[in-house]
Amino acid sequence: MRLEKDMKLRERAAKVIPNGMYGHQNVSLIAPGTPQFFTRAEGAYLWDVDGNRYVDYMCGYGPQLLGYCHPEIDRAYCEQLSRIDVATGPTPLMVELAEKWTELVTHADWAMFCKNGTDATTMALMTARAYRGRKKILIATGAYHGATTWCTPFPDGTVPEDRAHIIHYEYNNVESLEKAAEEAGDDLAGIFASPFKHDVLTDQQLPDPAYAKRARALCDEKDALLIVDEIRAGLRIARDASWSLMGVEPDLTSWGKSLANGHPISALLGSEKAKAAAGKIYATGSFWFAGAAMAASLVTLKILQETDYLERMIGLGTRLRTGLGEIGQRRSISIRQTGPEQMPLIMLADDQGNLDMQRGFAFCSGLMEKGVYFHPWHNMFISAAMTDKDIDMTLEAADRVLADMSVDA
Ligand SMILES: Cc1ncc(COP(=O)(O)O)c(C=O)c1O
Repeated sequence: MRLEKDMKLRERAAKVIPNGMYGHQNVSLIAPGTPQFFTRAEGAYLWDVDGNRYVDYMCGYGPQLLGYCHPEIDRAYCEQLSRIDVATGPTPLMVELAEKWTELVTHADWAMFCKNGTDATTMALMTARAYRGRKKILIATGAYHGATTWCTPFPDGTVPEDRAHIIHYEYNNVESLEKAAEEAGDDLAGIFASPFKHDVLTDQQLPDPAYAKRARALCDEKDALLIVDEIRAGLRIARDASWSLMGVEPDLTSWGKSLANGHPISALLGSEKAKAAAGKIYATGSFWFAGAAMAASLVTLKILQETDYLERMIGLGTRLRTGLGEIGQRRSISIRQTGPEQMPLIMLADDQGNLDMQRGFAFCSGLMEKGVYFHPWHNMFISAAMTDKDIDMTLEAADRVLADMSVDA
């Protein structure tokens, strides 16, 4: 059996871990045949506990940007770990890293570092409220900004008061945004936006510049803060904040996942205007000032500036998109491919809006057996460690799986 050890581990896990696994890494909600446990990762590949190898299109749900176990980044991490990591005070690397980030990101004049994306989005929310002492926060319906009481997608363990001052609007819809801002009135603290609409289970949407510009203008008119949550898309769209490509500069950006190519660090970056407010909130964590992830982030940023990693990822994603489009046409199976090429969401025609996606699951299960890790309803991530060969191998596998599916249909 392909997943024999994995299944045994799942049985043990069910006894000592709630639900056997929790959060987004619980594979019970995705395609059958997806392994839960892994023992090795290198470059573009993952090996499950049974020794099967996969070209990994999830990249740890984002953190792996330049490939697993990147030698130069991991060397910097390990060297720093052997000198000083978590300590009674930060290392000089913290200042160097804040300087580097403010050089890289146009809107940023300062940086605060933390560990998870939710730390950074929560700090952004608090900073926006501290800025003018206001309460209302605008968030796009269905957008994910983390997993704590004000933003978790599931209500269990929260109370309505946790979201009492959150007003929803439709992404890319200027009218809806304006209506939400009007509802907030004089109490508008900030507007959250994702770099593009990357909600699960539904087609992705690139940002409409008219929407992005209106969000900026509304914040200016009402003296509120514009927050772009870069945690998932940051560094995969641009070497600057993602909306810089449209000439829109936010006041705050939250970053996480890929800042140190898989090592634990996240950040809140902000403009001068928001600096005093950020200085007012009490924000801290035992591991937030650790040196090793900062050393890894410095090397990651250097590589991002010196290489064509982004252009290569876009090229690989385009090769995948074009190839899948051709296969779908040849096999008469309609494949919906949305979002930027380097962060594709790939779903089969009739699957949208619910988890009962028989065809998408069948497609992903088939790919999994052929050594390709695809997700049926979450955007995926191209890694800069992938090569044309990996994409071609993926396309060959997809062709065989879709051929079987068109015979079954
Ligand atoms: C857009 C966005 N914001 C916030 C988060 C939360 O990040 P973390 O899981 O590191 O807390 C995520 C995680 O997937 C995300 O995609």
